Amino acid sequence: TSSRVIAIDGPAGTGKSTVSKLLAQRVGAHYLDTGAMYRAATLAVQRAGVSPDAPDSIAAVVDDARIELRADGSGGSRVFLDGEDVSAPIRTDEVTNAVSAVSAVPAVRSKMVALQRIHAVDDFVVVEGRDIGTVVFPDAQVKIYLTATPEARALRRHRQNLSAGRDSDFEQVLEGVNRRDHLDSTRTVSPLRPADDAVIVDTSDLSLEQVLDKLAGLVQTRT
Ligand code: C5P
Repeated sequence: TSSRVIAIDGPAGTGKSTVSKLLAQRVGAHYLDTGAMYRAATLAVQRAGVSPDAPDSIAAVVDDARIELRADGSGGSRVFLDGEDVSAPIRTDEVTNAVSAVSAVPAVRSKMVALQRIHAVDDFVVVEGRDIGTVVFPDAQVKIYLTATPEARALRRHRQNLSAGRDSDFEQVLEGVNRRDHLDSTRTVSPLRPADDAVIVDTSDLSLEQVLDKLAGLVQTRT
């Protein structure tokens, strides 16, 4: 295919989603939020009443689920589960707390990876996730690994919660960040890690504008 791919990986709370969306707008690419797909799969599992520690049942539910990403017309994307727009319900704590378990199931990953590759065929895309540069698009033109200290990431999430009017306790958010990092980086299938040829960008002390400028510069020299 003639896809051009900008892969953006890294843990939660680095500003990855905001940066990826804005970068896609700036360089004229489509934006693919793979985390939203794993979240939609998790919602399907929860709605089916399946426990997060029953891999075979999880695999069966996700195999039957129809998960799609569609552009929202303003640079972002919406995710659909069996035709229903689930972009809001996939952001609840309930889903967030179970998504690492669901996304650790090999059959779930292989289905999502196949879908992600189809989405990118013959397109110019910014693809955001955990395993994009290592597994989904190992030949991506640009690979970026965004990182930041756990404290900086927890603080971002905490502020997001507060500004969205949600109750938030910093220590609890930090604990959640550490727990999800641990689960995502120690799973056997496609653990979270930078690709050997990824450019690592630490966003702890950078503004959104600074991160964007840096990434846009990388894209310009490589695509
Ligand atoms: O990016 P977001 O926080 O929405 O991702 C939610 C979860 O989905 C991650 O914590 C991870 O468990 C899983 N995920 C993944 N592979 C991806 C994207 C997300 O395993 N490419």
